[in-house]
Amino acid sequence: MAEKLRVLITCKWPDAAEAEAARHFDVTLTPDENPLSPEELVTALREYDGILSTITNRFTREVFETAGDIRTKVIANFGVGYAHIDAAAAKDHGVIVANTPDVLTDCTADTALLLMLMAARRASEGEQLVRAREWVGFGPTHFLGTRLTGKTLGIIGMGRIGQATAHRGHYGFGMDVIFHNRSKVDNEAVRAMGARQVGIDEVMRQADFISLHCPGGAQNRHLISRELIAMMKPTAFLINTARGEVVDEEALADALEKGAIAGAGLDVFENEPNVNQRLLSAPNTSVLPHIGSATKETRLAMGMKALNNLIAFAEGREVPNRVN
Ligand code: 8YV
Repeated sequence: MAEKLRVLITCKWPDAAEAEAARHFDVTLTPDENPLSPEELVTALREYDGILSTITNRFTREVFETAGDIRTKVIANFGVGYAHIDAAAAKDHGVIVANTPDVLTDCTADTALLLMLMAARRASEGEQLVRAREWVGFGPTHFLGTRLTGKTLGIIGMGRIGQATAHRGHYGFGMDVIFHNRSKVDNEAVRAMGARQVGIDEVMRQADFISLHCPGGAQNRHLISRELIAMMKPTAFLINTARGEVVDEEALADALEKGAIAGAGLDVFENEPNVNQRLLSAPNTSVLPHIGSATKETRLAMGMKALNNLIAFAEGREVPNRVN
């Protein structure tokens, strides 16, 4: 029997996925979620055939170049977003990069809706009030929020998760959907919703809820710029389950503090886990700790999908979710 590949899992995974990894590979587990340093990533590239990585592992071009003599053949990322891996640099060094699409689409779209509702209905603020025993009782004019039903949902990035979010908004809450996407998106599901593809400015100006679903990384850094935030209606909400760097957080904090927009719902941040204090203090801002895909079912499925990419490689097959 051929020797098992040496594989590193860079942080704690669901037990069942770790057990499955151990059946296939000579696996090194990591008991915690501490990010690996660039030096540790360099060592990993020199010592392992496969690396099962996550968002906290920043595989920059420099890391690949420093590693020089690279043993790794596949980095199978646990997650669909892979902007933390320089996939072009990986390719230059003969390293295949793969991700885990599809299995997290529903849960991430659910989180976008969760944040829309939290922000619109002032859920975080309300919970704090009750817990602080400052609630004075029911009143017809107390704690009024905003209704989702019938509002315009603006999606930025109409890929799988963007479409699943649009679907929930349209069929669940009767929302009209407009969207921006770099390439043309035209399929039966999008047509059935009556979703209209428009320019990004139009989404920013017209939508009542703007939900971000584009990739992160340098290409989209501060895509939601001060200029675009200034186009939002004063009654509009910004929802981010994509990547923190997509939004100019200082500009967003300014808009929230001035009441130039109605609120925000944020699951991702530019410098996770350090969240900009101004966003934490801003009114009508609901925040979550990057839990877009965090259900037991989905995290297990993500682990299995990441493993599947590595198993395919080990068996000499095409890596199904190769991205480079
Ligand atoms: C992951 C995510 O859990 O898949 C993604 O892109 O944002 C999350 O679902 C996280 O990236 C872990 O790598």
